[in-house]
Amino acid sequence: MAVQRTFSIIKPDATNRNLTGAVNAKLEAAGLRIVAQKRIQMTQAQAETFYAVHSERPFFGELVEFMTSAPVVVQVLEGENAVLKNREVMGATNPSEAAEGTIRKEFALSIGENSVHGSDSEENATIEIAQFFSGNEIVG
Ligand code: CMP
Repeated sequence: MAVQRTFSIIKPDATNRNLTGAVNAKLEAAGLRIVAQKRIQMTQAQAETFYAVHSERPFFGELVEFMTSAPVVVQVLEGENAVLKNREVMGATNPSEAAEGTIRKEFALSIGENSVHGSDSEENATIEIAQFFSGNEIVG
């Protein structure tokens, strides 16, 4: 498997509890390299665009409200098989189903306030990275 890039968000529940460094330590320990990172206040339009695939789901309004409630840290992660590796270190979407040692098992509060987002495919990673970073902001 070649070196890949994936997109990651440290969500408001984690930035509120000052867990950015703790999450990054987990990512780096898993062999992922943070090649771009910035702390932003996501706008409603950015959140609605980012989660457009969920726009018909009953939790969509709650999700957009949560993602715009406090700063987030958007990131590009690089490494061998980075998409899958990041999903492994994040753990299951619902923290009650997440494996021991994963970010969501240790830090997530609920299925909605689940501390991190990670791309689910290399194709979506490319789309998600382009929404938040220009090429010259990513330094591998
Ligand atoms: P994420 O990986 O960012 O992708 C979509 C998000 O929707 C997911 O993490 C959760 O934060 C959120 N989500 C998924 N299911 C639910 C749910 N049943 N209730 C509230 N939020 C949800």
